Amino acid sequence: MWRASVLTIFPDMFPGPLGASLAGKALAAGAWSLEVADIRGFAADKHRSVDDTPAGGGAGMVMKADVLARAIDATAGNARPRLLLSPRGVPLTQARVEALAGGAGVVLVCGRFEGIDERVIAARALEEVSIGDYVLSGGELAAMVLIDACVRLLPGVMGAAASGAEESFADGLLEYPQYTRPQLWEGRPIPEILLSGDHGKIAAWRRAEAERLTRERRPDLWGAFIRRFRGGSQTA
Ligand SMILES: C[S@@+](CC[C@H](N)C(=O)[O-])C[C@H]1O[C@@H](n2cnc3c(N)ncnc32)[C@H](O)[C@@H]1O
Repeated sequence: MWRASVLTIFPDMFPGPLGASLAGKALAAGAWSLEVADIRGFAADKHRSVDDTPAGGGAGMVMKADVLARAIDATAGNARPRLLLSPRGVPLTQARVEALAGGAGVVLVCGRFEGIDERVIAARALEEVSIGDYVLSGGELAAMVLIDACVRLLPGVMGAAASGAEESFADGLLEYPQYTRPQLWEGRPIPEILLSGDHGKIAAWRRAEAERLTRERRPDLWGAFIRRFRGGSQTA
């Protein structure tokens, strides 16, 4: 079973949204497991302190290396990658999500305050992962994002296997536009071709639309797509 272990000072935030919908059903069905450890439980003093002032001065607080290391050591997870959610980390991609979903699970460390003591990152070989170029107030929402993205790829979690294979990023492109009934809404029709019943033409239209959207919206992805799938023979 795919296992997610989360280390946080706000254990009550979990499962939160992960308890609803697709992820929640899969959790209840035993397709994955969630274990949440309260970092505060590993504090050594009577105030259960998990943070202290930054060495060298400055604003805010820093999570203590010793407390965090004890929490990490108590979480069995040698076969699983240990990730620290961090805006300094390598940006999370669908390719990484697929690799993580294909493994045994993840151990996720959620930072708070100004972040965590640098020494514990090195000493416990934490890999820093970011969910985007913006700063959250804590790693918990980022951990939920990562878990949700992985869980929906686990065998049997998504209804139709094809819905994962065709969606955004699966082959380096954004997804084509989707429509459903009514056929005409506020004067806007569903593109004729989607009603034609010609699966070959529909597939070609969807592919062309996926390429157009990627080219227009994400020149970074489009450039990578051209290099990877077309051997650089076409230009954007
Ligand atoms: C207020 S942030 C600390 C930001 C840090 N002082 C900096 O400038 O890089 C507190 C915690 O939120 C989490 N966090 C914030 N933004 C994130 C992001 N984009 N991706 C992943 N985790 C994030 C991290 O765990 C971080 O330790």
